[in-house]
Amino acid sequence: MATVVSFINFKGGVGKTTLCVEIAASLAHKFNEKVLIIDLDPQTNATLSLMSESDWEEHSLSKGTLFNFFESCYNNQQFDLQNIIVESPVEYKGTLQSLDLIPSHIKLFGMDLRLATKLGHENLKAKLFLKKAIEALQNQYTYIFIDCPPNLYLGTQNGLFASDDYLIVALAEYLSTLGIAHITNSVNSIFSDAMKLLHDIGSSESSLKKPSLTGIIFNRLRTIHSGTYSQENVIRMVTSDYPEYVFDSKIPQSDKIAARAEQKVPIAVSGYAVDRQYEDRIAEAAKEFYDRLTRPSNEGA
Ligand SMILES: Nc1ncnc2c1ncn2[C@@H]1O[C@H](COP(=O)(O)OP(=O)(O)OP(=O)(O)O)[C@@H](O)[C@H]1O
Ligand SMILES: [Mg+2]
Repeated sequence: MATVVSFINFKGGVGKTTLCVEIAASLAHKFNEKVLIIDLDPQTNATLSLMSESDWEEHSLSKGTLFNFFESCYNNQQFDLQNIIVESPVEYKGTLQSLDLIPSHIKLFGMDLRLATKLGHENLKAKLFLKKAIEALQNQYTYIFIDCPPNLYLGTQNGLFASDDYLIVALAEYLSTLGIAHITNSVNSIFSDAMKLLHDIGSSESSLKKPSLTGIIFNRLRTIHSGTYSQENVIRMVTSDYPEYVFDSKIPQSDKIAARAEQKVPIAVSGYAVDRQYEDRIAEAAKEFYDRLTRPSNEGA
């Protein structure tokens, strides 16, 4: 059974997509895990950092993307996610066999609103589409990573309801400290609302479980082993609020990130020549991620 993990922060541009792709690639490449990335964000950043635009266009025309999945849900039709998986999109010294992708599409913008308008904001069914559909893929992967958009609309809620865990990616900035509490509170409240709804309608749906917080991982730190003085202060504050949850591994700023998205090869698999320090930190984070998920005390915030 795969462990399903959402990468979230309601704040944009903190590195959710980059870390989702890099940690997935590291787990696949260095730890031999079979990983699927689901790109839930209409910005298609995870998709286009793993495959070329022309391959994506061809795939979206011939097989489809997550947009087609949600559109089928909207139309009350069956849809098998298996059909839209891109197998081993990363090519680097041979293909990276154990990393697959479900691509996104810009047309996913607006789907939240269409679904909410048709089914209602509170409609639990509309939040469980992805959860139900990925059940069929559970046995093929060790991990399914969901790259969420920077909001808490229906798309992200589909990601959360489908997840066993969620990982918060954060920058070491003062406003992050406020954002983290907002995220954990929001996750708690959407699940308690859902449970209440189930109770009120007397439903026997028993598989709903609030995802556990795997941890909080800081991205774009400016010095080699930790951060600047102000970044260190923020990390200290967050660690005192969430002592169990802040990752020991900290991800440094890297000026190679932009180039890697263009080459469609994650730094985690591209060899030390690109950015050894970044690659090593990602491997550390992947290892810590694995340890945290398999820790018996992983019961969530
Ligand atoms: N460690 C890093 N060093 C330097 N640049 C980085 C690093 N991590 C991410 N970036 C850059 O920061 C920008 C935002 O990263 P990314 O797209 O991963 O964030 P995001 O949280 O997924 O954004 P969004 O909320 O829009 O989906 C990108 O231009 C990315 O290349
Ligand atoms: Mg993103």
